[in-house]
Amino acid sequence: MSSHLQETHRRRTFAIVSHPDAGKTTLTEKLLLFGGAIQMAGSVKGRKAARHATSDWMALEKERGISVTSSVMQFPYEDKIVNLLDTPGHADFSEDTYRVLTAVDSALMVIDCAKGVEERTIKLMEVCRLRDTPIMTFINKLDREGRSPVELLDEVESVLGIACAPLTWPIGMGKRLKGVYHMLLDEVHIFEPGKNFTRQDSTIFKGLDAPGLEEAIGTEALNELREELELVQGASHPFELDKYLAGKLTPVFFGSAVNNFGVQLLLDFFVEHAPAPRSRNTLGREVKPEEEKLTGFVFKIQANMDPAHRDRVAFMRVCSGTYTAGMKMLQTRTNKEVRIANALTFMASDREIVESAYPGDVIGLHNHGTISIGDTFTEGEAISFTGIPNFAPELFRRARLRDPLKMKALQKGLAQLSEEGATQFFRPLMSNDLILGAVGVLQFDVVAYRLKDEYGVDATFEPVGVVTARWIHCDDAKKLEEFREKNAMNLGIDAAGELVYLAPTRVNLQLAQERSPAVRFSATREHA
Ligand code: G4P
Repeated sequence: MSSHLQETHRRRTFAIVSHPDAGKTTLTEKLLLFGGAIQMAGSVKGRKAARHATSDWMALEKERGISVTSSVMQFPYEDKIVNLLDTPGHADFSEDTYRVLTAVDSALMVIDCAKGVEERTIKLMEVCRLRDTPIMTFINKLDREGRSPVELLDEVESVLGIACAPLTWPIGMGKRLKGVYHMLLDEVHIFEPGKNFTRQDSTIFKGLDAPGLEEAIGTEALNELREELELVQGASHPFELDKYLAGKLTPVFFGSAVNNFGVQLLLDFFVEHAPAPRSRNTLGREVKPEEEKLTGFVFKIQANMDPAHRDRVAFMRVCSGTYTAGMKMLQTRTNKEVRIANALTFMASDREIVESAYPGDVIGLHNHGTISIGDTFTEGEAISFTGIPNFAPELFRRARLRDPLKMKALQKGLAQLSEEGATQFFRPLMSNDLILGAVGVLQFDVVAYRLKDEYGVDATFEPVGVVTARWIHCDDAKKLEEFREKNAMNLGIDAAGELVYLAPTRVNLQLAQERSPAVRFSATREHA
């Protein structure tokens, strides 16, 4: 096998999806520990405190070095290379999260055993489903009293509409937690609180009849386990690789991230079964990771360490071929060739200049305002990857300047921030307003802060009579023109120059749709 193929097949690129507080940060940290990427628990933790308040978030973003590096964490585990893509942790729902999910090959869902399936998890699962992303599940906080495991699996199946195949099964919960049983390995792993478990220092019994097991967990717990297993094996789904890969079935692990319990069993199974990089669609054809020529797309742009220089990093997911330092790439949207000498890689332990990167990897391209989310890079072929959406905002504000002379700076700032995906930006056809759209309300605070900090613009945002937006398409040029004339009051142009319907009310939107059946109203816009 060529080294390109070998490197491709050992990549595992994924993201963790969860409702806030289910344990994503804690689990991330444990995974990094196993990957040897960090030496001590606590290193990841520090940065998440910021989530709850805007002011904290901003202070945190000032230390951009941390947030940029931790957006992508690469670590080796056994013979695999794992790329963990962080989804932003703000309490506010964010479009960024959605776009990160377009760049992964699989996802890991974390559920709090006391809370079960929560609202954000449901939303994120909807996104995973759009691309049939394979999902593994970790039910966390077993060291606390939670709902019964059967009830939890039922809830996942009915609320999220995905079959569950338990791979480990808890023996007790809360204070009575004794361990987990691994269904495929037929092993009992004993929970010994206070230990930082790795495979080496946890006690393992092979099979339910292993000598010493009964003493270790007690007769009652063992009998209970036998009964439960009988029940579960009859009532639940067995693990089937093809169903998992098709996004129809999720393998489920139980554990306690904070105690590092059950985590390695999950990771072992993950690196073995989670998919290697998969093929991806472009407008013209499917691109296979095995192809020799480099292709990739940008799914995220983030301000870098030094705001004074407006330096930003564009995160590109490699889809095929090999990136090597110094190579030339074609940015297909602009049809410009660029030489990329100093892309960043994201070994979790260290940020360094990357020499080569393979499908599944993410590289950071320095961006001076020329790269947009959704951009495709190739070695010359004119293709564009699809499926990196903009979502119709649900919140709108009109930007007002304190100093009218700063209009140019404001426009430039808004254009750049919308390019990064920090906000969306619309100009009505019939007025000079600058209208911002967001999916979460925190986005406005962030934009106001960054306009001031990075562009020296003091702007305020005031309410505006728009409730939602739809991108407008029509194959019939004449009908489109008619529509434009009739609805000019409610039309605008987005930052990419696309026509958008800015609806003052839901009823108005519905009427407009009914009156112009030839026009498509789309709630998402594909980049590119
Ligand atoms: P998130 O990133 O999904 O938001 O969750 P995070 O890992 O920050 O965990 C949320 C809280 O749950 C943290 O407590 C964390 O310590 C706790 N936690 C995570 N895993 C487990 C577990 O297995 N068992 C128990 N009992 N708790 C767990 P916190 O009080 O918010 O923070 P901290 O002060 O404990 O660090």
